[in-house]
Amino acid sequence: MKKRLVLLGAPGSGKGTQAELITRQFGIPVTSPGAILRREKDLGTPLGTETSEIIQQGGLVPDATIVKLIEDWLRLHGAHGFVFDGFPRTVPQAESLAAILNRHHTPLDLAIWLEVSEETVRDRISGRLQCRSCGFVTSVAAGNFSERAVCPYCEGPLVRRNDDDLEVLQNRLREYHAKTEPLAAFYQDTGLLHRIDGNRDREMVFGDISRLIESK
Ligand code: AP5
Ligand code: MG
Repeated sequence: MKKRLVLLGAPGSGKGTQAELITRQFGIPVTSPGAILRREKDLGTPLGTETSEIIQQGGLVPDATIVKLIEDWLRLHGAHGFVFDGFPRTVPQAESLAAILNRHHTPLDLAIWLEVSEETVRDRISGRLQCRSCGFVTSVAAGNFSERAVCPYCEGPLVRRNDDDLEVLQNRLREYHAKTEPLAAFYQDTGLLHRIDGNRDREMVFGDISRLIESK
């Protein structure tokens, strides 16, 4: 089984949704720098405070900050593989990851790119709801949340992320096209890149990812 994976794709492409399905089905631990930094902000830590403005504006947090987060996470949790949701996002981050994994003789198995249209991105970002207490992610369309926006798991309030504003989304997409898309060539060259049509429903996308994870 493949157990060292990076999930790449535009905002709203479904990285978090698929990471959650992967960890539930295959038990591979998952981490997301975006989720870590949102939690740090909620906790009021210096890291959360320093990075919240960049995130709110739709920019990318400096590579050194993100690489340190990933290195720390790998040290604590990396022994049984990983799914990185939204890392790497720049060529220098990918190079740092390759160097870290080389040092540990644990090469990356798969770079999965969730490809979605801009229409899909806009629809999903404008419809996303997230539980403020447990982080559960859903969408307005998935339930009767317009009447009672309450988490089905913990009863916490379902809210919109503060970077899910359509103007901020333009900045996020600009960063994605400028800094993240060049990673396709990086992973193509290493033979690890697999592009998946992320416009389809969750289960179809997950079916393709599962086949990749289970492949020899
Ligand atoms: P991050 O939190 O990673 O945000 P993102 O990349 O913009 O991606 P999203 O979380 O918005 O979307 P997703 O692909 O996870 O989609 P989801 O599954 O939620 O990063 C936030 C910020 O942190 C960045 O902008 C940056 O500032 C900073 N940051 C993070 N990582 C960094 C890095 N490496 N370097 C520098 N800075 C970094 O799905 C979206 C919605 O669609 C949900 O409502 C979901 O229910 C729904 N949905 C999902 N799949 C489907 C489907 N197949 N069909 C229908 N609906 C679906
Ligand atoms: Mg996400």
